[in-house]
Amino acid sequence: MVKNATQAIPENQETKMVLVTIERIKNEVIITIKDNGTGIDPEHIDNIFEPKFTTKNSGMGLGLGIIKNIIENYNGTITFETKFGRGTIFTVTLPIINP
Ligand SMILES: Nc1ncnc2c1ncn2[C@@H]1O[C@H](COP(=O)(O)OP(=O)(O)O)[C@@H](O)[C@H]1O
Ligand SMILES: [Mg+2]
Repeated sequence: MVKNATQAIPENQETKMVLVTIERIKNEVIITIKDNGTGIDPEHIDNIFEPKFTTKNSGMGLGLGIIKNIIENYNGTITFETKFGRGTIFTVTLPIINP
């Protein structure tokens, strides 16, 4: 997901930012990965978790589908907010089973 974030920022963009936060709130761990890259095209928003979906020339498009499977197997969630042209923030939550 960090690699996706870095890849979303155009090479020639002056101010590049990828911010990862991890915090515990009660019995959940919340991870956010935020970038100021291209954002996700509204046309693609419904597809990004699909296996083999990619907008990259040499992308595999396997990453997010697998990540979502793994997270949901642990009863976690993955969501995102994006502004096309501005950036994206992914939020992962994972329950802590033995607090
Ligand atoms: N941080 C992000 N910013 C913009 N688009 C993203 C971001 N993360 C994922 N995407 C979009 O979701 C698609 C699928 O991502 P992924 O499953 O990791 O495959 P891949 O990285 O091989 O293309 C990417 O091709 C891209 O269009
Ligand atoms: Mg990827």
